Amino acid sequence: MKKDIVTLSELSEEDFEKLFKRAFELKERHKKGIRENVLAGKTVGLLFDKPSTRTRISFEAATAQLGGTPIFINAKDTQLSRNEPVKDVARVLSRYMDALVIRTYSQGLIEEFAEYSSIPVINALSDLYHPCQVLSDIMTVIECKGACKALKIVWVGDGNNVANSWINAAAVIGLNLVLACPEGYFPDKKVMEKALEKKCGRITLMSDPAEAVKNADVIYTDTWVSMGQEQDKEAKQKAFGPFQVNAELVKKASKDVIVMHCLPVYRGYEMTEEVLEGPSSVVWDQSENKLHLHKAVLEALIIG
Ligand code: CP
Ligand code: NVA
Repeated sequence: MKKDIVTLSELSEEDFEKLFKRAFELKERHKKGIRENVLAGKTVGLLFDKPSTRTRISFEAATAQLGGTPIFINAKDTQLSRNEPVKDVARVLSRYMDALVIRTYSQGLIEEFAEYSSIPVINALSDLYHPCQVLSDIMTVIECKGACKALKIVWVGDGNNVANSWINAAAVIGLNLVLACPEGYFPDKKVMEKALEKKCGRITLMSDPAEAVKNADVIYTDTWVSMGQEQDKEAKQKAFGPFQVNAELVKKASKDVIVMHCLPVYRGYEMTEEVLEGPSSVVWDQSENKLHLHKAVLEALIIG
């Protein structure tokens, strides 16, 4: 049966481990200049309805570096923009390509694509989740710290799509995840409830960032205003002031804390320039690892 990655909850702990192992191997081979050919003759579609620097380009590069051909599809240039049913587009694209990477607003749309496609569907961000981001982020945590399970991982800021995917990952592989978000901006309630039902890992919600980051091994933040929320910008900037990741906050964490951000970053809002460019920041490694992890995802889903 074909496999998709639309939430992260469809993966087992073993799937996570296999992806990390292969991504590290592929990273090492890439550094040595070894050429891969596992996707020779395969075509990967990238259907995007929101902007992207990292996710789009790393998936395109990953496909090309594995010997396959990426095809970028701007959703606005397709008949989807004139209400062609998703179930029709999904079946048509399945006749042309070997996997489909989708970035859009509605999680439901990605799930409908997965249901009607006969090829693997990969969520490259929806309003609800950003699963591949969190996969490559955990790879970065393992790379920097040697492991991820014994660590205190602290999310500071908006309970958004990336936070929801961290919650899903924590529930599959058993992480100690603390989320500090302003009242009214907690992660999705259903996502939280489902994760807690699994009784795997420790997931804690709070509204005090200073308390949350005590002894943190990882501090993670993201923009306060996600794509599609531009109308809430002013209200959010007011509510999120105390949640800025700055030197004072980072000082309260473990002394060898790493600071993460999926990027793009808004300097002076969710993170200061000093922290972003400081010694604890691993944001550029995070961005690089998207390339290697995406290769592992494409290979696992297309080749098996
Ligand atoms: N982190 C991330 O998904 O970045 P892009 O929006 O540039 O793809
Ligand atoms: N939460 C952000 C992530 C961008 C990569 C957004 O959805 O815009």
